[in-house]
Amino acid sequence: MSETTTPSFPKHLLDFQGWSRAQVESLLETAQMMQEVLSRPVKKVPALTGFTVATVFFEPSTRTRISFELAARRMSADVVSFSGTVSSTTKGETYRDTLRTLDQMGIDAYILRTDAAGVPHQAHRWLHKPVINAGDGWRAHPTQALLDAFTLREKLGDLEGKKIAIVGDILHSRVARSNAELLSMLGAKVVACGPATLLPACLFGATLTTDLKAALAEADAVMALRLQKERMDKGLLPSLPEYIAGYQITEERLGWAEPQAPLLHPGPMNRDVELEGTLADSPRSLVERQVANGQAVRMAVLYHVLVGKKS
Ligand code: CP
Repeated sequence: MSETTTPSFPKHLLDFQGWSRAQVESLLETAQMMQEVLSRPVKKVPALTGFTVATVFFEPSTRTRISFELAARRMSADVVSFSGTVSSTTKGETYRDTLRTLDQMGIDAYILRTDAAGVPHQAHRWLHKPVINAGDGWRAHPTQALLDAFTLREKLGDLEGKKIAIVGDILHSRVARSNAELLSMLGAKVVACGPATLLPACLFGATLTTDLKAALAEADAVMALRLQKERMDKGLLPSLPEYIAGYQITEERLGWAEPQAPLLHPGPMNRDVELEGTLADSPRSLVERQVANGQAVRMAVLYHVLVGKKS
């Protein structure tokens, strides 16, 4: 993997501030190369030999954590895995003290998920080491957006001018925020749709609507989002059946979008809530492809943050 043809990269990925379109496109090209590595009988390269990567998760995760750990191991890094629920944070240790403690053990990069927004930015200041945001509160989930963009480009080609509809609990969704920021940077027209109580006042990179039919009309792709009950105050929805009646993505409603428009979901899914359960297994669904692509995209992120040229 030559460094001479790639632009300089920030030594962290907290969100997309400081990232240009050229850098993002170069990273997605690297992810393409990582796909080739993952198609080999021996899915391993020595690119991160000698580096130690820590996954530090203060919130639950299936996809993000496992794919980051596999991504690091596929590139020969050592990996340590920290879970907030079984750590000394349960005895009152702060984020800062926890991270500074880990830092005495020779960690080279941190992959950090927190329920509070902004902790990855703070961690970057506390540690002076590469920090990759694996989701902070409602704020950002940049590697999810990168793997979504990768998956969309695989299906649709260039995203310039493509309409992408994101439907569901936009207010509490870091995935919606990062996708609106990234997909609009790549030229897509992003429309975010949900009931008024689950829409933010504004969403950078997207237009907002409560009108599902208008959001889906001529959409080149549709992304359904989970109701994030763990982040939700009571009273934001009249009832679950009313939400489903108004905003569930059904086969009939998917017909309002462009013919063959693919359906995405970042997971975890609540089948038969935000989407008709069987749609997730239909030929229109890219849900499993998103997961598969996550590993290659996270290999590319780790490679650029740890090995790529300094910014
Ligand atoms: N999409 C996503 O972040 O999934 P996990 O919570 O399983 O990591």
